[in-house]
Amino acid sequence: MGSYLKKSCLALYLPYNKQIMKALELIKTRRSIRKFSKKSIPEKTIEKVLEAGSWAPSGLNNQPWRFMVLGGEKKNFLAKYTHYSYIIKGADKIILVFLDKKSSYNYEKDLMAIGASIQNMLLYIHSQKLGACWLGEILNKRKEIGNLLKVPRNLELEAVLAIGESQARLLRGKRKRIRDLVVKRDSLVVI
Ligand SMILES: Cc1cc2nc3c(=O)[nH]c(=O)nc-3n(C[C@H](O)[C@H](O)[C@H](O)COP(=O)(O)O)c2cc1C
Repeated sequence: MGSYLKKSCLALYLPYNKQIMKALELIKTRRSIRKFSKKSIPEKTIEKVLEAGSWAPSGLNNQPWRFMVLGGEKKNFLAKYTHYSYIIKGADKIILVFLDKKSSYNYEKDLMAIGASIQNMLLYIHSQKLGACWLGEILNKRKEIGNLLKVPRNLELEAVLAIGESQARLLRGKRKRIRDLVVKRDSLVVI
């Protein structure tokens, strides 16, 4: 496994350690962005965001995620269904992420896969120096949104991503310490 990773990283012309640093740096510097400029995001960037989402792992590779991209008036219609209307209105585009119940094999695992798909999209967006916020509170109005957008019954809304060019101040973010998260850790055996 280790050598496979090393080989694939070599193909990217970056030393293995630097690859790891870059990935961790990208992960750690991503923040939820709630304030955006008026700049519009090119269609091809949105396409790549969806591509990133589609490359997430999923149980049995069932790829249960489905996406709906909205901008302009249609996007703003959704603002009334959340406390975070200012985020929806300020964003250039929103991506609604659904679970396709027709392709579901295990609800819990499908939701995990959808979370992975969302995180892939957030990280890609961040890598492009754009900003995004994962909106969950809006799910309280799932039914109303489904009716408004005439969403087929097999699609269950799981999240909305608001995307745009960031106008937010860069914050460092805050996380618990690793030692408070790990419940058991065997010491490493060096072979
Ligand atoms: C499942 C989920 C639901 C969330 N819902 C909202 C939301 O409704 N509104 C919002 O402003 N942020 C929402 N967030 C973003 C979190 O507040 C944010 O990720 C957390 O505070 C950590 O900040 P960071 O993303 O900048 O590191 C949500 C995040 C997740 C994972």
